[in-house]
Amino acid sequence: MEYRRCGHSGLLLPAISLGLWHNFGASAVFGQARRLIWEAFDRGITHFDLANNYGPPPGSAEETLGHILRNGLQRHRDEILITTKAGHAMWNGPYGDWGSRKHLIASCDQSLRRLGVDYVDIFYSHRPDPETPLEETMQALDYIVRSGRALYVGLSKYPPDTARNAMEILKQLGTPCVVHQLRYSMLVREPEQELFPLFETVGCGVVSFSPLAQGQLSERYLEGIPNNSRAARNGFLKSADVQANLPKIKKLHRLALQRGESLSQMAIAWQLRRPVPVTSVIVGVSSSEQLQQNLGALESPAFTPEELQQIDAILQS
Ligand SMILES: NC(=O)c1ccc[n+]([C@@H]2O[C@H](COP(=O)([O-])OP(=O)(O)OC[C@H]3O[C@@H](n4cnc5c(N)ncnc54)[C@H](OP(=O)(O)O)[C@@H]3O)[C@@H](O)[C@H]2O)c1
Repeated sequence: MEYRRCGHSGLLLPAISLGLWHNFGASAVFGQARRLIWEAFDRGITHFDLANNYGPPPGSAEETLGHILRNGLQRHRDEILITTKAGHAMWNGPYGDWGSRKHLIASCDQSLRRLGVDYVDIFYSHRPDPETPLEETMQALDYIVRSGRALYVGLSKYPPDTARNAMEILKQLGTPCVVHQLRYSMLVREPEQELFPLFETVGCGVVSFSPLAQGQLSERYLEGIPNNSRAARNGFLKSADVQANLPKIKKLHRLALQRGESLSQMAIAWQLRRPVPVTSVIVGVSSSEQLQQNLGALESPAFTPEELQQIDAILQS
């Protein structure tokens, strides 16, 4: 595993991290979830990404990891990073959502209880809250660190201007934002415009989520939509989007084969290419085969300028 410095901080993240958004909740097979976590750790994945609402049901992915920690992984606590977030709908009533001090601190305490840990390594504001003063949300993050509930703070899905202001407030508070988590993939390239230059300037790390566009940038949908796939299972990935992207996906797949690798490996390696400032790519997996295949991206050949041009041309077609 390659470990990359997270912005200007002292923190190193594995180039590939594991996300527990899907396939780790109470509706998943526990034995499979446990195997995936241990396999990931054995392959050098030291960073496990959660949020209060991951499941289903919400909260149960944290409970799954808590169970695995209690049954052995806890002895490696100092070798792993556990990250969680608050800011999307989690419980009923006016305090179960968004970016108030009340929501963030209560949610962090709930996450610590579900995980059975004293602290998380990074606590994120999961999304900007247009109704709560930015100062309040940032002060809550600062307090979460100062009170020992988290070691670092991060932001997720903040647009450029709000991210810039939020990072400035955090810096003044003395709890710098070490990482920004954003959607980035061959199919979603907006961060290249403003966010990447901003984070490079201020020295904030970048963690990209949904690097395979929820499975589209793999062989998963080349022959249609399998029954057990995310596009068939839930509403997060629309089958109409899968169909619409398929012509590009097939061309990318052919290029990956020419490079001697799978499409998922090429899609992950493309994100980790320099000078793109991605510190870590958070993959989601539903099987050990997917995990092993995606880790193969670390052995991908470097991209030639011609290959990068071919990829751009396919994506713009
Ligand atoms: N900050 C935020 O707001 C936010 C939002 C979304 C995600 N995230 C984080 O990012 C993590 C990853 O997101 P994601 O799950 O959308 O990532 P992703 O890697 O783009 O998609 C994962 C899905 O792709 C399929 N897949 C993965 N590897 C494959 C392979 N080698 N071959 C074929 N199919 C493969 C699997 O789908 P099947 O299940 O169909 O097999 C898997 O569940 C999440 O777990 C979470 O931690 C954060």
